[in-house]
Amino acid sequence: MAEINSKDVFNLRSTPQITGRFTVPGDKSISHRSIIFGAIAEGQTRVGGFLRSEDCLATLKIMQDLGVEIDDTGDEVLIDGVGLHGLRAPNGELDCGNAGTAMRLLSGLMAAQKFNSVLIGDESLSSRPMGRVIKPLTAMGAQIDSNGFKAPLKFSPVDGMNAMTYNSPIASAQVKSAVLIAGLYVDGQTSVSEPKKSRDHTETMLQGFGAEVQTNGLTVTVTGQPKLKGQNIQVPADISSAAFFMVLGLCHPNADFVIENVSINPTRDGVIKILQAMDGQLSLDNIRDQAGEPVADIRVQSSALKGIEIPHDLIPSAIDEFPVLFIAAALAKGETRLTGAEELRHKECDRITVMLDGLKLLGITCEELVDGAVIQGGQLGSGLVDGHGDHRCAMSFLLAGVLSQDRTISVRGCHNIGTSFPEFFELVQSLGIQVKQPVSVIAVDGPSGVGKGTISALLARELGWHLLDSGAIYRSLALKAMKVGVYADEESKLITLAENLNLNFSVDSKQGTQILLDDVVVNSELRSEACGVMASKVAPIPAVRTALMQRQKNFQKAPGLVADGRDMGTVVFKSAPLKVFLTANAEERAKRRHKQLQERGVDVKIRDLLEDIEARDYRDSTRKVAPLVPAKDAHVIDTSELSIDEVFAQIIELVEQFLNV
Ligand code: DC
Repeated sequence: MAEINSKDVFNLRSTPQITGRFTVPGDKSISHRSIIFGAIAEGQTRVGGFLRSEDCLATLKIMQDLGVEIDDTGDEVLIDGVGLHGLRAPNGELDCGNAGTAMRLLSGLMAAQKFNSVLIGDESLSSRPMGRVIKPLTAMGAQIDSNGFKAPLKFSPVDGMNAMTYNSPIASAQVKSAVLIAGLYVDGQTSVSEPKKSRDHTETMLQGFGAEVQTNGLTVTVTGQPKLKGQNIQVPADISSAAFFMVLGLCHPNADFVIENVSINPTRDGVIKILQAMDGQLSLDNIRDQAGEPVADIRVQSSALKGIEIPHDLIPSAIDEFPVLFIAAALAKGETRLTGAEELRHKECDRITVMLDGLKLLGITCEELVDGAVIQGGQLGSGLVDGHGDHRCAMSFLLAGVLSQDRTISVRGCHNIGTSFPEFFELVQSLGIQVKQPVSVIAVDGPSGVGKGTISALLARELGWHLLDSGAIYRSLALKAMKVGVYADEESKLITLAENLNLNFSVDSKQGTQILLDDVVVNSELRSEACGVMASKVAPIPAVRTALMQRQKNFQKAPGLVADGRDMGTVVFKSAPLKVFLTANAEERAKRRHKQLQERGVDVKIRDLLEDIEARDYRDSTRKVAPLVPAKDAHVIDTSELSIDEVFAQIIELVEQFLNV
């Protein structure tokens, strides 16, 4: 079963027109490097336009953990450089989070230190290949232990490392940078040659900091033991973030806008060249130099894109932009063919598979190749696609939603968007695009003993949603009544109790939901048979139900609610988009209840339980107010012959369908 993490399901609505001028956040690659080089330079480095994304903040925190004073004033990040040899041993592991750049660049740095250190990352980063940096660094003399060439990476100090000439089998700025950074610490010259040119921010910035760096064709050489001097850096807007809006504007029927101050470094501008080759109207104005990096304002106008064969020489300079380029291809006329991009399979996720799976689901004809894809342009339909927690895939699909014909593309797996583009949703909203969380309430109703409680709790956990056990509210009133000696037929007293019930639910990750009646935890008291019987007697009183209504409605909070009860779909959450009604014959429910009680050490006869259940069913379903009946639009599932897992699987299938709308 596909993992559902609806915590982060969003969809974007269309907008009739996109105009104006705006910019996107600072360049991620430059932001990472500005912190690392500022830290090992002498004197202060000031960084304006720093990208405060989770990834870059991970790098910043790591440098702080290594003893560097870094102050974020809001306007600027101020780094008090400690010099090449001034880093201190950290107190614990250094957490790179989701950031491949942090882990690979810092590998070069940590390999050269005179202390032990460990670089760790999140689940996605821990599955990404690190052999590509471990191998050359080890060849330079570094001592690195890893988990089969994956994180965690453990660095031990060595007596000395050597300069070297490294022929990298892949065009990777991260590999090149790791070796060049280690090269700063050794005597002599360290060179890296690549099969194709990868982005050159490291060499450009190192030169700005005063290192001796030469570029000769595809070879970059750094001379070791430089004195790096603190710099003022103004980070330009990230072309990788701008790329989403280039595709949005080109594919939108009525767009004409300018993205300001975008880095157009020739090692990064493949996306512009590819989109122009697809007949995209992108024009670069006001081209200027900013801290050694070329920047421009990019005008984007609605265009009729055509499919192309993507030139191999443009792949390295567009490597991060393929998720959104696939969307452009899906909306272009004709076929787009990409080969020679196997690297895409080693990003935050396998971007070839994830993007093609999503496009296929949206009705696009496409073929997955080992090292690329063939995409036939068409029209995007609707569906629930999975961004697999990859920020760029998620943003690409979200923007596809703005461009889809029927405008109902929901995207799950959006939780990592903040790793590169923390203001993404704010920016799209400022362009007049509505951001929706298409989920609200799943109502799960049914008689007692049918397994609703278990199913609802499982569902809430799977989705990361809130859970309402409405029966517990009626049970709490019943318990309160029993405690203060109010009988089931004393309506007005019960109504007063219901109106003034001091009831709170506190969610604790270890103990689950704690139900507090008059500030005392009453979870187990509420489950008693006596309490259940009393609850079914007080529940039919209309004014009691009214008094308890708002408490239940208050549970409806983002990202969503699983509401378990008798009248969730018929009364309390009448407009819930998904309603499930569970049934099972009374004998089966009596058996289940018996088993449950036996496990708790309570000895009761099945026959008594059956009588009890039948009486309660009768009361619940014949009462005048909110009787136990399925809502007209409920999906009725008879669970008599089904295991919990089977019921759960059926509901998950419904959830998947419902999230599609
Ligand atoms: O689901 P449960 O066994 O905890 O519910 C206890 C009683 O509360 C049940 O017999 C009927 C009543 N109830 C109700 O009337 N409406 C609800 N939404 C939930 C429970």
